[in-house]
Amino acid sequence: MASHQPPLNPESLGSAAGASSALKMLLALRAWGDVQQLQSVFSPGNANGIEIVTWCQDGARVFSDATALDADIVLLDPTLPAFEPNDVQRLYHNERKPIVTIGAIPQQGDWGAKLYQIGAKGHVDAPLGEAQARALVAIAHRAVQDALRERTSPSYIPQVDTRVAQVIATHGWEKAVVAVWSAKGGVGKSTTSENLAAVLGVLANRRTILIDANMAGGNAHIHFGIADAQIAKNIAALARRFQMNVQTAGYRNHSGNVGVLSAPALLSPAEVQGHLIPIRNNLSVLIGIPKQFMGGDEYFQGDLGRGFMHELLNVASSIADFVVIDLGQDTNAAVHLQALRDANYVFVVINPDAASVRATAEVMDTLFKHLQLDRQKFRLVTNRFHEEHGIARKDIVNALQMPEVGVIPDGGPKVTASLNRGFPLVIDSRGEIARQYVAIASTLYPPVTQIWQSRAKLGGAGNEGLGKKLSELMFGSSRA
Ligand SMILES: Nc1ncnc2c1ncn2[C@@H]1O[C@H](COP(=O)(O)OP(=O)(O)O)[C@@H](O)[C@H]1O
Ligand SMILES: [Mg+2]
Repeated sequence: MASHQPPLNPESLGSAAGASSALKMLLALRAWGDVQQLQSVFSPGNANGIEIVTWCQDGARVFSDATALDADIVLLDPTLPAFEPNDVQRLYHNERKPIVTIGAIPQQGDWGAKLYQIGAKGHVDAPLGEAQARALVAIAHRAVQDALRERTSPSYIPQVDTRVAQVIATHGWEKAVVAVWSAKGGVGKSTTSENLAAVLGVLANRRTILIDANMAGGNAHIHFGIADAQIAKNIAALARRFQMNVQTAGYRNHSGNVGVLSAPALLSPAEVQGHLIPIRNNLSVLIGIPKQFMGGDEYFQGDLGRGFMHELLNVASSIADFVVIDLGQDTNAAVHLQALRDANYVFVVINPDAASVRATAEVMDTLFKHLQLDRQKFRLVTNRFHEEHGIARKDIVNALQMPEVGVIPDGGPKVTASLNRGFPLVIDSRGEIARQYVAIASTLYPPVTQIWQSRAKLGGAGNEGLGKKLSELMFGSSRA
């Protein structure tokens, strides 16, 4: 290929401006016949807006060739020797610009679904005839536009290199159940738990379950914009199921058919899973009680309520890496108290005013004295902090005797506005509030700091060049 110089005819000179905006495609194919066919459609200076940069038959070289040659598209035969499936994601999240992979699906095997799973953005069926080559023009342009659009959108989330992720997965963090609690209402429990869960489950892409267990009424279904039709799948429905299971198990034990050891679980992973609503990436939510009076229902009270929360957290932590619970302030509520007991960490949210600090100190004293909760697992989150409030961070820490994991500034009305949009602000904000939630999450999952930094570098408004490229592709402004 290198010896094949394109002829310098007037037409190819004339399209020089076009050539610079033509997409560059790397052919990672085995069959010479396919390559030949494509070369005739994507010859230098062709009118399809796509040019071939090289042909590579060694799977191990796909990533290095594509990045070195500044490719936009890799057309990939997945049966290429030494091809590394992770490279599809690495290319897509390549730092300089996204490189999309389009599959050339071999007739044999079930490569179609697999390729999309590893991140391919389109496909054509091999062998590649003229019709496939033509189809490729539209598929490739659209895939590159979509990738640029995603990369330049504020909600773009880079993925950590899979190899880095594997190293991370074996070191440096542990699964955790975190209860978010405060002694008063309206201080930021929901804002904190929802953003924390979004950092862990969406940004960091760890399996995360947010449980809205506030017995004074749920918020999550509103804050995540969950459709009315889904609201029946909530924590009360699951607690009712638990109650039924308890009754059935009691009956069966009584009849002597089932021994204690073989007793069925009182809440199965499938039952819990069936009540979760997937949000994005690895975040799902168990929404709370849609009506405040439901907090008084019998399955939330006493032993039944405690047993339910205990089982729920058991199952949730077995199917997720992180469980974040939004708790109501009332420590007399059985499910709140059980969650405080079972959680690995309790994040206590306070506002920096003397009354909030004092009320919190008092409730916590009672908790520690009468309920034998472990003091070591409590952490302080100061929300709506403002220097001019005249209360120093160290004084708060001293008064409450907890390590501080985050100080979230007062963000004014835009924070409340974000609650009304249907997704937490960390998804598309890069401001100080979002950065603080990432800092809090990094106390549980340190690698998220790295993800945050590469996000700042890669995506959104930070990348003007790609935005320009996108509008050129879509509107052809470079030719104007
Ligand atoms: N850091 C902040 N800056 C500005 N407004 C905030 C901040 N944190 C929370 N709020 C607002 O305060 C109100 C109460 O927050 P919320 O998280 O619902 O509290 P809670 O769950 O403790 O009752 C909401 O309207 C929310 O938008
Ligand atoms: Mg709340």
